[in-house]
Formats: sequence, C-alpha cells, structure tokens
Amino acid sequence: MALLNVENLSAGYEQVTVLREVSLKVEAGEAVAILGPNGAGKSTLLRCISGLVAPTSGSIVFDGHDLTKVEAHAIPHLRLIQVPEARHIFAGLSVTENLLVGGTPLASRSERMERLEEIWRYFPALRQKSGAAAGTLSGGQQQMVAIGRALMAKPRMVMLDEPSLGLAPLVVRELYGTLRTLVDEGLTLLVVEQDVSMALKIVDRALVLETGVFVLSGSASELRHNDHVKQVYLGI
Ligand SMILES: Nc1ncnc2c1ncn2[C@@H]1O[C@H](COP(=O)(O)OP(=O)(O)OP(=O)(O)O)[C@@H](O)[C@H]1O
Ligand SMILES: [Mg+2]
Repeated sequence: MALLNVENLSAGYEQVTVLREVSLKVEAGEAVAILGPNGAGKSTLLRCISGLVAPTSGSIVFDGHDLTKVEAHAIPHLRLIQVPEARHIFAGLSVTENLLVGGTPLASRSERMERLEEIWRYFPALRQKSGAAAGTLSGGQQQMVAIGRALMAKPRMVMLDEPSLGLAPLVVRELYGTLRTLVDEGLTLLVVEQDVSMALKIVDRALVLETGVFVLSGSASELRHNDHVKQVYLGI
C-alpha cells in the first residue's frame, strides 16, 4: 500500500468547491510534484492533507492512519510534516534555536543535537550562520531554515508549497539539489511548484492539477515531453 493514499477527495471553502474527487498515491521514498496554474487548488490539497482544511468527501490515508480523523496538530507526530512558509520561521531566534524547535518530538537532547549535525550536513551554509538571528538571513537561507526545522523531527514525508517562490534561480537549484539528496536517502517528498522546469528535474513523478481535477500525470520525463506541459508550463 502507498505511504499516502488520497481517494476521491473533494474540498473547498464555504459554498465554493475547489477540489473535485481527486485521487493521488505517493509511494514511500518517492518525490512527487503537483503542478498547475494559479487557483487550481494545489495549496488546498496540501492543506487537506495537513488537516487545515476539512474535506467534504473522500479519504486521506497516511501510513495506515485516516488523516480526516486526526487533529491537525497531531499529524506531525505521524512523521508527516508540511514545511511552513519561510516567513513563519522565528526571525528573532538564532538559526540553531529555530532548528531545535523542530526537534521537540525527538526524545532526548542528545538525539536532537545528533539530528542538528545531520541538518548542518544538508545545509552547510546554515552552520556558518548558526548563531545569527534567522531574520537576518537571505531568502534562500530562510527557506533552508524552514525545511531544516521540518527535517529535525525525522519525518517520513514532507510537503512543500512553492519552495522556489521569490528565490534566485541559482539558489533554487541548490535547494532542489538538497531535496533530491534527501529523497535518495529515504525521504518521501510531495512538492507543489510553479517552477515546472526545476521540479521536473528532480522529482520521480508529477501530476497536473487544473480547476480542481488532475488532468495529467506521469513520470517526470513523460511530462517534460508532453505537448500540453511544454506549451502551458514550460513555454516551449
Ligand atoms: N481561505 C480561502 N477562502 C476562500 N477561498 C479560498 C481560500 N483559499 C483559497 N481559496 C480559493 O480556492 C481556490 C484554490 O486556491 P488554492 O490556494 O488552493 O490554489 P493554488 O493552486 O494553490 O493557487 P496558487 O498557484 O495561486 O497558489 C482559488 O480560487 C482561491 O481563491
Ligand atoms: Mg498555492
């Protein structure tokens, strides 16, 4: 059985339906991207999985747990974490303090310090800034803090909503390189991304969401060569 299994999920806001019976499977160890235009419902889908939006129908099962019956605050304890937007890091706390906050589900201080060493390995630029207030970092480094904080809890799966937003191309490439390393080491990744060309370089599979339904899905290389994707999302 897939690690994440979303079936016939419908959701929206008050009388507006955003997602219309969408189904999605993510296998353990896979990197999957959700692509699509503004307003398609990509963030709404992640919010449903994170427990922030209640579906009107359908099911979401993660690692055997029915997420529609789990409170949002308890979902990270299942080791499924949505990386918050970088602007939600603690600007006045140091980089190290921000990361340690993410490690609170780990049992002991020594385990947290060990995990911190692993985070430095993924994001060497952060180690150099470990004592600096997170608010003084560049946008790319703040994004690394947000991701690093999520990784501190040793999640099985992380979800990111447009991690490239507002970052320079070189920084985005570095960030995605690190995400791919994490996946190669066993992490499962679900990423919503508008930088379609970048996302398709590192994910295994992708799905295209348009007005609340998946209109296309396939391997990254299938989608890179798909005419609709080329015309609408890659501009070639
Ligand atoms: N809190 C909300 N209340 C009411 N409507 C909302 C709310 N959040 C989003 N919507 C609407 O739901 C639809 C889907 O929004 P969503 O944010 O899921 O799209 P998206 O695919 O993430 O778009 P973007 O690429 O702009 O981030 C849009 O029409 C949006 O206006
Ligand atoms: Mg969005």
